Amino acid sequence: MTVLVAYASALGSTREIAQHVASRMAVALGEVECRSVEEVESVAGYEAVVTGSAIHNQAWLPPALAFLTQYGPELAGRPVWAFSVGMSDGLPKLFRERGAALQQQRLEETQFQEVQLRGHAAFSGVYQATQLSAPLRALFRIAGGRFGDLRDWAAVDAWTDQITAELAKPASSASSDTDPA
Ligand SMILES: Cc1cc2nc3c(=O)[nH]c(=O)nc-3n(C[C@H](O)[C@H](O)[C@H](O)COP(=O)(O)O)c2cc1C
Repeated sequence: MTVLVAYASALGSTREIAQHVASRMAVALGEVECRSVEEVESVAGYEAVVTGSAIHNQAWLPPALAFLTQYGPELAGRPVWAFSVGMSDGLPKLFRERGAALQQQRLEETQFQEVQLRGHAAFSGVYQATQLSAPLRALFRIAGGRFGDLRDWAAVDAWTDQITAELAKPASSASSDTDPA
């Protein structure tokens, strides 16, 4: 099986998650290609696609949205999963769970119209203090927010293994087991 993992990343943390997902899937599935969405010239040869983007201002990066618009219709009928990388785990504890859920819901309602997803995962990436202006940085810290590498690799692995298991099933039983986004 040939699987495409296509990502859009501004500062690299989403790219590293995509590469990790692709390597892990490859152990069980064989050929898994990991490319930035801008490198993809065709999706014709792929039996399944996993696509992910960093979140900026509550939305996927423009090249990732363009990827969905361009290839979404062609991918209909093929298994497609999405993952979004933000900084929810850096939010003050009080808002963390609710903030993550709201953002995930917002992303699903606003940007995945072009493609029928088998599932959508939200992961935290890397959020550096230098990404905020000094006053906002201070405010964020006072409110209980935290910076750093917030990636939960165990959660990434668990999601990857769930997808891999679905794709490894014989075709007749590989219907949607994960909740559609
Ligand atoms: C300009 C900017 C806007 C961001 N907006 C959001 C946001 O709306 N929601 C969120 O959860 N994270 C947001 N983040 C955090 C990034 O999504 C996070 O740092 C992620 O790991 C970036 O991925 P990358 O390293 O692949 O670029 C923002 C980061 C930047 C630099």
